[in-house]
Amino acid sequence: MKVNKLVSGSSTTGAKQEAGLGASSEHYTTAGYKTVENSSNPSLQKYMAVEQEAITSGVKDAGSKTFVDIGAGNGRIEEAMSRVASKVVAIELNDDMFKGLCERTKLLPNVTPVHRNAHDLENILLEMGVQRPVLVLAQNTLAVIGDTCADLDEMPEARRLLEEMRAVAERGGGEIVISLLKQEALESMGVAMYGTFKDMVGEPDFEKMDYGAGLFATKSGYQSKWWRPEEREEIKRILGGRVATVLDGANFWILHVSYADQ
Ligand SMILES: C[S@@+](CC[C@H](N)C(=O)[O-])C[C@H]1O[C@@H](n2cnc3c(N)ncnc32)[C@H](O)[C@@H]1O
Repeated sequence: MKVNKLVSGSSTTGAKQEAGLGASSEHYTTAGYKTVENSSNPSLQKYMAVEQEAITSGVKDAGSKTFVDIGAGNGRIEEAMSRVASKVVAIELNDDMFKGLCERTKLLPNVTPVHRNAHDLENILLEMGVQRPVLVLAQNTLAVIGDTCADLDEMPEARRLLEEMRAVAERGGGEIVISLLKQEALESMGVAMYGTFKDMVGEPDFEKMDYGAGLFATKSGYQSKWWRPEEREEIKRILGGRVATVLDGANFWILHVSYADQ
């Protein structure tokens, strides 16, 4: 039976005051994100397919584990995860995305949407009694945790989330799957890709765009970060643990680390 659509004692307002949705995440709507899913961009479609496969097939004994989707959006990958995992906890702060997430998962008995801030990860898992979590940060969500800019060193919220994820997963002997887009592919793939859902993110702003840093920007204030090789190494260093797999595609980079005893 599904419990806790909204975990008691949490309010969205409270969570927002604590850290806030970054400016880019304010652009997301369930309707707009459908255009991402249905994008005609072949590289994006390939990325989504490979990513879903990595998350659903790459975790050993998934059927005994709880997957925790951080920044779950409108539930794009919840159904796939619900088929392989014991349980799925889907954390989303944006009100409209959370509505879409609830609607989309209402018939999935092992999926619990949680309307809270990702930074409340430790408390959420404690309150829900989750042990040995598989923490999932899909589709470049790290880029929009807090405010996006050209350098990981100037994205304290993103860095803090990585540290929180490590602390939680390490303590519980869990795992992390993190999926990112590569700076090297921003110019060749990114601009065309964002063009297929510009109603949600806006028209590109070529004055603010910085391909070398991996910064995508639009005239309506949406920004995303595609990660440089040295930033990916730094992310790997912050997460620590034992590397289970790294999928290093032309456009994307998917890292799976484990903290379980061997
Ligand atoms: C790039 S979208 C990806 C959505 C989903 N993971 C997917 O793969 O389809 C990032 C999502 O993270 C959410 N988000 C951003 N900051 C958050 C935070 N601090 N707490 C919870 N969700 C957050 C955004 O609202 C957005 O829905």
